[in-house]
Amino acid sequence: MKQIFAKKPLKVLLDEVVSENRLRRVLGPVGLTSLGVGAIIGTGIFVLTGVAAHDKSGPAIVLSFVVSGIACVFAALCYAEFASMVPVAGSAYTYAYATLGELFAWIIGWDLILEYAVASATVAHGWSHYFQDFISIIGIKFGHVISNAPFDFNPVTGHLSSTGSVLDLPAILITILITIILVKGIKESAGVNSAIVITKLAIVLLVIILGAFYINPANWHPFAPFGYSGLSFFGRTILGQTGPGGAPVGVLAGAAIIFFAYIGFDSVSTHAEEAKNPQRDVPIGIITSLILCTILYIAVSGVLTGMVPYNKLDINAPVSNAFGQVGLVWAQFLISLGAVAGITSVLLVMMLSQARIFLAMARDGLMPTKFFGDIHEKFRTPWKSTILTGVFVSVLAGFLPLRVLADLVNIGTLFAFVIVCAAVLIMRKTHPEAKRPFRAPFVPLTPILGIIISGLLMFSLPEENWYRLFGWLIIGLVIYYFYGRKHSIMHKMIESGEIEKYEINKAVSPVVETDATK
Ligand code: ALA
Repeated sequence: MKQIFAKKPLKVLLDEVVSENRLRRVLGPVGLTSLGVGAIIGTGIFVLTGVAAHDKSGPAIVLSFVVSGIACVFAALCYAEFASMVPVAGSAYTYAYATLGELFAWIIGWDLILEYAVASATVAHGWSHYFQDFISIIGIKFGHVISNAPFDFNPVTGHLSSTGSVLDLPAILITILITIILVKGIKESAGVNSAIVITKLAIVLLVIILGAFYINPANWHPFAPFGYSGLSFFGRTILGQTGPGGAPVGVLAGAAIIFFAYIGFDSVSTHAEEAKNPQRDVPIGIITSLILCTILYIAVSGVLTGMVPYNKLDINAPVSNAFGQVGLVWAQFLISLGAVAGITSVLLVMMLSQARIFLAMARDGLMPTKFFGDIHEKFRTPWKSTILTGVFVSVLAGFLPLRVLADLVNIGTLFAFVIVCAAVLIMRKTHPEAKRPFRAPFVPLTPILGIIISGLLMFSLPEENWYRLFGWLIIGLVIYYFYGRKHSIMHKMIESGEIEKYEINKAVSPVVETDATK
């Protein structure tokens, strides 16, 4: 009992930062914001906008983006506060360890695997769609057998159906390529990322500016064909309309899907350890990238639904296809090329973040340290966990359908948001004295609203996702019981009595000045 609620003292975390074998500090505010944008704009806006507008929101998808954006802003402010207090890799996992104790930390770390690894697989799928769209414009076609996951979820019948393909080969190949880049190192990766981010922003601006000339306002009517809500409680619609497969539809239900488009801003906090000045730059990176993307998303989705009636939007590559539909084939070509590049950078950051989470958990002994904590002598990267992530992601991406993967990521991430918001509330109460270089404004209102809106979005997702989330968490708890609990460093510190000097569970020592906090 003592162990599972044992909190990792802030001082221990900060001491770790200055100890050896840490990652290189190379990222400044622009680098971190660029990582944020690199992680955010991808499959969500380029692919899922089509499904969300088509099946859930109609032109009111702009409002869905607003709702999701608001949920993310509240969560982002909480992430930023934590990232500034505990500037080490590990994101929500580390924050939970410092505030809620080991068991919660494990749960959230396990949940983040669901977020980053499954998000990577989803993104690899989106990449594959655009890549195939792009090469088809220049007349090349992948054989059907190797172009898609073997089955898909049919939202109308609510069942899985065969696609006739065997695997999604492009998705597997891109995952392997990214794994190789990541094993080589963060500095090179961040450089590649910046170049791609610039291309991506240029493409998004092209969509907004050029597309604006092709808007037909009649396409915005009816504005919210599925209504403004869409909330269900384990399969029972409690607010709004129900779609053909029994899942909720409406602005909120759309928001729960396109929420995926915002995922990634939190990954900035997993790079705190590589930041030159984490206390100042990590909050800047998180908030700037989120605000920028929210504005762009609202504009892109408004333009798209203005160009093409919402029910004519393509499901696989809606953004480039809309330009094809209004006869701008050259723009379709450029956009699909830009989307391929843009989605690549998302994959890069997502997979990078996954390896960092493993690293943080391995350092605490909750995962096998020799494997997950091993930093490559020459490249200074957690190479073994990066390769394992690559294998895991490529299997998921090759064989599971996009829709199933995307919903699963969303529920896992929203759950992480709820825990981070709750952790900020708890930390303010239990450790008011700790140094907080960035303070979330309007606490307790901000975290409370973060919890409520994220919770609402969780209930706007089809019910199966809850069962998948529970299933995942149960597997995680079994692993913790048989492995983490016994190997945790905290366990050893408690056994040896060493923990007493940190006055565990009483007061987290106010943050001391270390190299990491100066
Ligand atoms: N937000 C990221 C995307 O849209 C995960 O692809």
